[in-house]
Amino acid sequence: MTVPPLIRIFFAIDPPGSVKEQIGRYISSLKKASKAHAIRWSRVDHLHITLQFLPEVQEVHLERLVNAVRANLQKATALTLSFTKPYLFPSPYRPRVIALDVAPEAALLHLANVIGQGIEVAHYAVEQRPFHAHLTLGRIKHPEHFDSHFLSAIKQDIEEQFAIDEIVLFRSDPKPEGSQYTVLERMGLTK
Ligand code: 2AM
Repeated sequence: MTVPPLIRIFFAIDPPGSVKEQIGRYISSLKKASKAHAIRWSRVDHLHITLQFLPEVQEVHLERLVNAVRANLQKATALTLSFTKPYLFPSPYRPRVIALDVAPEAALLHLANVIGQGIEVAHYAVEQRPFHAHLTLGRIKHPEHFDSHFLSAIKQDIEEQFAIDEIVLFRSDPKPEGSQYTVLERMGLTK
């Protein structure tokens, strides 16, 4: 039996370039302050807020999936977002990821649910873990030795609010130098 080609995709918010640059400067400050820790920092051009992640999708189902999500996105509208504070998860005591919280969380949860309903219409399963809106800044290589004090020493905040009027579907391909992201679709949100 031949195995159909499977792809890894995710629906996300792709912040404007100016916001990514600002977060990039924040990451540079964190990098300097956290020298003692082995952290794999996110690439600035890869910064995004994941709404739904699908590890294995058959390429032949992609069109059906995109159409179902696009149709259901009528239930959501464009929104204005801002970043609040650094967030360590899954636990602040033994974190694997340093992220930024994103507000308003209720609107983002709604958006994630709307996309999730579209995914289910296309007969794929959605992630069961509770949704927490975040943007990953870096991944901690040795959580057992992590000390988060350097985070509070950074005074720089990400202040800018930014308007979002589309959802982006990315394909993620593993590469020796890290994942490669490709934009597959852009889906507009009603204003
Ligand atoms: P994360 O940044 O919170 O890890 C592409 O991999 C995107 O999909 C990442 O932003 C990642 O979120 C998200 N994602 C969600 N669940 C994932 C999983 N099980 N494996 C890899 N990425 C996942």
